Amino acid sequence: MTLYEERKLRTEWFRQDRFGMFIHWGLYSIPARGEWVKSWEKISTEAYQQYFDEFNPTRYNPKEWAKVAKNAGMKYAVLTAKHHDGFCLFDSEYTDYKSTNTKCKRDLVREYIEAFRAEGIKIGLYYSLIDWHHPDFPHYGDNQHPMRDNESYKGVEHHWDNYTTYFHNQVRELLTNYGKIDLLWFDFSYQNKALEGTQFEFMSGETWKATELVKMIRSIQPDVIIDNRLGGDCKKAEPEFYSGDFASPECMMPTDPILDEVGRPVPWELCLTLDNNWGYAKHKPSNYKTTRNVIEMLVECVSMGGNMLINVGPNAKGEIPKESIRILSEVGEWMKKNSESIYGCTTSDFPIPRFGRYTQNGKMLYAHVYHRFTDAVCLPGLGNKAKKARLLEDGCELSMSRPWNAFVNGSEDLYIDLGIPGLYDENDTVIAIELL
Ligand code: GLC
Repeated sequence: MTLYEERKLRTEWFRQDRFGMFIHWGLYSIPARGEWVKSWEKISTEAYQQYFDEFNPTRYNPKEWAKVAKNAGMKYAVLTAKHHDGFCLFDSEYTDYKSTNTKCKRDLVREYIEAFRAEGIKIGLYYSLIDWHHPDFPHYGDNQHPMRDNESYKGVEHHWDNYTTYFHNQVRELLTNYGKIDLLWFDFSYQNKALEGTQFEFMSGETWKATELVKMIRSIQPDVIIDNRLGGDCKKAEPEFYSGDFASPECMMPTDPILDEVGRPVPWELCLTLDNNWGYAKHKPSNYKTTRNVIEMLVECVSMGGNMLINVGPNAKGEIPKESIRILSEVGEWMKKNSESIYGCTTSDFPIPRFGRYTQNGKMLYAHVYHRFTDAVCLPGLGNKAKKARLLEDGCELSMSRPWNAFVNGSEDLYIDLGIPGLYDENDTVIAIELL
């Protein structure tokens, strides 16, 4: 089997499920200025220690988180087991810098896994390749290390092999101690800009010993899906072994389905913040996306053969912000009625219509009507191709017609009558059309 075929098989559930919850949580929820606070403010490890010393999320109840995800219609979740600040939310035998050594004394990853699994949600773990706590991760001259321009670290020797051994060991732990892991989300690879004083120009691919890492991962859990941030290019016709199972555009919506060099679809997932930051950021201006926005973006992803992983950033006590819960529950209301147009759906055979978008699953075509023009919506080119049309949210029959003067537009087009009082859903009205 080629790498492409293997990837296609492995990602079957992923391409089916389409919608997931990203969870960024860690010590940075205390300063509440985003998960990059240690780097942005160039905070020393000594000064950052206060957050470790006080970390005690007494209201952490992952069963509630899992319910929020489930009610929103999310099918998988990804939790930051370790973010760039190096703090581990799991009981690793390779570090003391972990949640079980804080006041809370809990293995937060284990509890998350158990709670989400119990709700039937697939389990993903985010693991940061970058580590601003480990002494052997290069400091001076790195693009984003908090000590990147601190002269006292200039010329300091960092034993890179110690770091790669450390992180490979931790990945092994995550894959051995918690049962089946469905997805691994590594973050991230980059090219160092300031070459003077940098240990490696490319923090990418084999710098991470990626081939060895992925071999180890596959030997333990062959089916786990891996993102593309270890490096390489998953869009190549013959991608590197470690280039990953899906592309991960971040906060930027692609404009077309993602294809590889030879035109085959590449699985992809848009990861997106719900507010402005990933980690809890009470000190930053909030800029929540609206419910309609979130729904539209989910549909947009699916209409281009992609997934959407939308983020929540729980606070220091372990709670998902209320506003996030409100938005996700409204998305869930829509999903309860319309998820058939999301799960298992993909790019349509028909061009993008003026009124909104199409998603499609075999013989079922879903018209997402965003814009109300006239009482009848026109589906170009579908004139003799549809068997019946129903309003997806309640199964109500919709008449397919051709207005008396439709001939002026040719007979290729299908008209569906939407002039029924109360029919429109302001978030997205979905018509399910069975194709002939
Ligand atoms: C970025 C950021 C990070 C976030 C991630 C999610 O690479 O470094 O804070 O976790 O993207 O996609």
